[in-house]
Order: sequence, then C-alpha cells, then structure tokens
Amino acid sequence: MTRRRLLTLTSVLLIVAVAVAGATGQIAAAFDINRFGIHRYAAYTLLALAAVHVVLAWPDLMAMVRHWAQIGRRRRTPPGVPPTARVPAGRRFALGAAMGFAAGAAAATAFGSLQRRSGVPDEVAEAGDLGVLYHRWSRPTYLGGLVKSFAPILEPPLYKSYPAGAVFALPSAGEAARMPLHQAIRRRRSRRGFSDRSMTLQELADVLFLAVGETDHTDRSRPFRAFPSSGALFPTETYVGVHAVEGLAPAIYHYQPQTHALVRVRAGGQSAPLMRAALDQGMVAEAGAVIVLASYFDRVGWKYKDRAYRYALIEAGHIGQNLYLVAEALGLSCCAIGAFFDDDVNALVGIDGVREAAVYMAVVGHSASAA
Ligand SMILES: Cc1cc2nc3c(=O)[nH]c(=O)nc-3n(C[C@H](O)[C@H](O)[C@H](O)COP(=O)(O)O)c2cc1C
Repeated sequence: MTRRRLLTLTSVLLIVAVAVAGATGQIAAAFDINRFGIHRYAAYTLLALAAVHVVLAWPDLMAMVRHWAQIGRRRRTPPGVPPTARVPAGRRFALGAAMGFAAGAAAATAFGSLQRRSGVPDEVAEAGDLGVLYHRWSRPTYLGGLVKSFAPILEPPLYKSYPAGAVFALPSAGEAARMPLHQAIRRRRSRRGFSDRSMTLQELADVLFLAVGETDHTDRSRPFRAFPSSGALFPTETYVGVHAVEGLAPAIYHYQPQTHALVRVRAGGQSAPLMRAALDQGMVAEAGAVIVLASYFDRVGWKYKDRAYRYALIEAGHIGQNLYLVAEALGLSCCAIGAFFDDDVNALVGIDGVREAAVYMAVVGHSASAA
C-alpha cells in the first residue's frame, strides 16, 4: 500500500476514533461516569492514530513548512502560474481535513438538536424535559386525593419471596462499624479503586444490615428499617452481585430483610456481564460486591399513584447514602452507579423492568490504596 493510501486510511480511522471518543465523552458526561472503559480505549486509539498520521504525513508537513518559509519569496513567482500550483499537496490535505472536521462537527450538532426535538410530544417540548413534565404532573391536588381515597386498596405483599432459591444465612450485624457518624460523613468519598482482597461475609452482612436491614421489630406491625420509606411501604428491593466475598460463592442474590439472609437468584459469577451492563465501568468487576437497588413500583403505586415514582427514587437515594456511610465506617470503598443499561441489569437480577426495575447501583469492596 502506498504512503498516500495509508494516510487516507489513517485519516478515515482517525475520524471514526474522534467520533467514538467524542460520543463516549458525551455519554460519560451525561451519565456522570468517571471511568468509562470504551471512552478511554477510544482516546488511546485516537492518540495512536494521530501519531501514525503525523509519521505518514511527515513529508507533507515538511513541504508545508518549506512552503511557509517560501511565502516571503512568493512575489518572485513567475507571473501566470495559478495560485493553487504554489500550495503543496500536504497543505491542501491539511486544509481539507480541517474543513471536513468543521463540517462534520456542525452537521453532528445540527443532527443532535434536530433529533432531540423530533418525536417529542408538545407538552414535553414545552416543559423542556420529560422529568420536568412528570414533576409538574405529579403535584398533589385535594380532588385527586379524594378520588384516590375511594380507590380500592390492593396492597401487594411487603416482601418478595423465592421459594425455590437456595438460602444463605448472614451473620448478625450492626456492631462492626465503630466510626463516629460525623467522621464517616466528613470522610465519605466515591472511591473507585478496588484491591483483589475479598470482603468477609461479616463485612457484607454489615453493609446490608446497616444500609437496608430491618433494625427494629418491637413497635409496629411493620418493622423499622435502616432507611425511611413513604407510608412505610418499602418498595426498594436489594440484589447483590457477589464477586469476591469469603464463604459465599459468586452469584447474584436477593437480600431478604425479614430474615437477614440472601437467596440465590442467579448462579455463577456475573462480574463481567454486570460490568458491561454498567457501561463497562471497570470498578463493577473489581469490587467485592455490587448492590443493585430495584423499585417494586406496585408496592408504592397503589397508594401514591402519580407521586409514587418520586417516592421510590427518593427512598433509593436514602439507601445510597447509607451504603456510602456504612462502607466508610467499615473501611471499605463504595461508589454509586447511575450509568447502566437498565434492561441488562434488570435481566441479570431477574426482574421485568416494568413492575420492578433497577434504579440505582453501588459497588463495595476493599480499597486498592489500603491493600
Ligand atoms: C445518582 C448517582 C449516580 C452516580 N453514577 C456514577 C457512575 O455511574 N459512575 C461513577 O463513577 N460515579 C457515579 N456517581 C458518583 C459521583 O460521580 C460522585 O458522587 C461525585 O463525583 C462527587 O464525588 P464524591 O461522591 O466523592 O463526593 C454517581 C453518584 C450519584 C449520586
């Protein structure tokens, strides 16, 4: 293959790499992903291609430099020679590539804004965002409250059960985290580096109990839990992708708060599929365990109707902070994950994504720096 052909091929690949790196950069920014594997590899590829491009275009670059050096002497060019004949091929190529990039960027911007507008219902376009529309639409009214109070009550069960699933009891928890609360709050960070060190079963039990467990059975028909819940309906279900926990085989489990036990819902280690489902964020495969919080919408929807979705997400947020603080107090790393492919995560934990859907993930495990 000639140098010119190689150069063209490298230019095409460069454009592809720029597009992928740009798009994945946008995705990373939009979803708050701090370590996005595809973006990183696209950027490395981009750098390598840029270096190859420079090497291949070196003669053209030199010609350009020579051309600039000759600009001062241009007046001595014999009359009648067309101006383009004085511009070396390398410079024309560089100019063409720059214009191509500019045109591509303009077209992508226009396409992006058109695509955002097309197919959006009028009310959403007016509100500017589906979330804003939902927020407005789910405002309570007295009349709505009255209608709802006459609606038949079909309250779904408080707990999910897996009669056929293998059950694994967890050690009693609650005493291990001794760090004062004010210290845990001050030290809390999103920590994304994990070591090979496995978590102990006690550590996992502590994380689960102190983040989502039933903490008090004495005073009510419904036990109190580690987080508040609108109407004490507790729509949040907890799944645990176990990668490296001593005494517990890698698999996906469902946490049963009523017995402080895990039930296996999918056998076998799922670190790679879970990582892929979380947009290739490497920490998902490296952590000792991945917590998936799912909202069982019916459990809160029968009562709160349009507002139920708000309450479900708020509840998950409470649990997220519990996870962070408990991990901090136990000397573990924790990072929230909102960037994931919903359908893939739902499929992995075995839920339908409609009546029950994953809303929040978090990773926990031993820190790389403390290893
Ligand atoms: C809802 C939510 C989703 C998040 N999703 C991700 C994520 O997908 N990947 C990631 O690396 N961090 C994620 N984070 C962590 C934030 O990036 C982090 O909280 C933020 O940078 C502030 O840093 P700090 O937690 O150390 O104070 C998420 C945080 C929240 C609250």
